[in-house]
Amino acid sequence: MSEPHPDPSGDAGHPPLEAAPAWAGVRRGPLAEGEWIRLVDTKGRRHNFELTPGKRFFSNRGHIEHDDLIGREEGFAVTSSVGGEYVVFRPLLSEFVVSMPRGAAVVYPKDSAQIVAMVDVFPGAHVIEAGVGSGALTCSLLRAVGPTGRVISYERREEFADVAHRNVTQFFGGDHPAWDLRVGDLVEGLQETGERADRVVLDMLAPWECVDDVADALLPGGIVCAYVATTTQLSRVTETLRAHGGFTEPRAWESLVRDWHVEGLAVRPGHSMTGHTAFLVTARRMAPGEQAPAKKRRPAPGAYGVDYSGPRPPDLPPQVISEAYDAR
Ligand SMILES: C[S@@+](CC[C@H](N)C(=O)[O-])C[C@H]1O[C@@H](n2cnc3c(N)ncnc32)[C@H](O)[C@@H]1O
Repeated sequence: MSEPHPDPSGDAGHPPLEAAPAWAGVRRGPLAEGEWIRLVDTKGRRHNFELTPGKRFFSNRGHIEHDDLIGREEGFAVTSSVGGEYVVFRPLLSEFVVSMPRGAAVVYPKDSAQIVAMVDVFPGAHVIEAGVGSGALTCSLLRAVGPTGRVISYERREEFADVAHRNVTQFFGGDHPAWDLRVGDLVEGLQETGERADRVVLDMLAPWECVDDVADALLPGGIVCAYVATTTQLSRVTETLRAHGGFTEPRAWESLVRDWHVEGLAVRPGHSMTGHTAFLVTARRMAPGEQAPAKKRRPAPGAYGVDYSGPRPPDLPPQVISEAYDAR
């Protein structure tokens, strides 16, 4: 049974909700000129575009007039000039970041969600991130800190900073009050400003090069998080954090998300999934002069032995350094 045609106020007897605040990156009410919308066809193909009066959206299934979409409440179905069917919504943050223009690889929504939750990014938090790349993670961080927080985003490459600025501004529909985008190197920026933060998120090739300065910037109890794509990066950043001595034992993990096919009696995992995006490593900053107690467990035989060339945790017994690694 189809629902009755919506009341133009959209409230069907309920008092209307106020407009969502600009810094939320969400709009309510009828679709307006200049907004980005997302059409999804019956095969799941997605099309994002900006609503412009007088323009037409074209696909292999004919066209749709933008004017036929402007002024309607999102969440409706439309049919194109040759019978193609689409549903129309405003894009969610998780949809926007995987379809926006990219300068560099983005943090995927499943990982942004992990970062916001596990790095405990709270309203009002002061967060420093580097690099900003295309601005995908920035959008999630800004949403989480809200208008009273602060996200300082360092990006070495001006052309990427420009892409990120366009993306973030498009998502929030203007400048976000908590955002401070800086073109430059993170370490140089931290050394120049001496600024402090509750959280530092590193998405870059060599996060281990920043550990000393990040440790100086983090408040006691603050959290550093590194997002790295390869096992060699994972090892190096984890060992560098451990060797620093001013952090708790690092935690390393990845998240795998598997969709399910649910149809009558055919309920099974989906055939495809994103196998790997990146690893996450987090550690908490101890207070100045404080060290977390050393791990009681002896490292695996040879883990830091003669074949290992990275940073070693402090105070390893000599025999641990001299033995060979045996993966069995
Ligand atoms: C993978 S991209 C970041 C993607 C971004 N987090 C996103 O979600 O869209 C890595 C970026 O880090 C930048 N970068 C690398 N080292 C840096 C440093 N020390 N300071 C500032 N930016 C750095 C690179 O220029 C690159 O744009």
